[in-house]
Amino acid sequence: MAQINRINHVAIIVDDMEKSLNFWRDALGLTLHELRDVPAEKSQIAFLPLDGAEIELVRPTSDDSGLAKYLAKRGPGMHHVCLEVDDIDSMLARLKEKAIHLINEEPRTAADGKRYAFIHPESTGGVLVELYQL
Ligand code: CO
Repeated sequence: MAQINRINHVAIIVDDMEKSLNFWRDALGLTLHELRDVPAEKSQIAFLPLDGAEIELVRPTSDDSGLAKYLAKRGPGMHHVCLEVDDIDSMLARLKEKAIHLINEEPRTAADGKRYAFIHPESTGGVLVELYQL
């Protein structure tokens, strides 16, 4: 049976990267591992590792992406939590069986080969949940 093993990352959507880093890096003292542009997702992402997981700060870099629309509608804040699963196919099958509302019915494959799928907030208590199989 598919199993969730740990939190991979927590993603926070921000409108001002420097201001966010003032908190997460400078005030809390987390290490900024990487800050990079991801043109494919029209966003800039900061990675701050923490005990095997990561805080990710995501800032939309254009006005026409899904992320930008999310930010315009809801403002900055928690965007999603990502959980690692050992077998994403059987987990998605189980969730479908339980009538959980999936955004991605089939896993998608990221540029780095990771397979992922999003679960709709209406089934999770209001939080967008991402599943990752590494
Ligand atoms: Co994510």
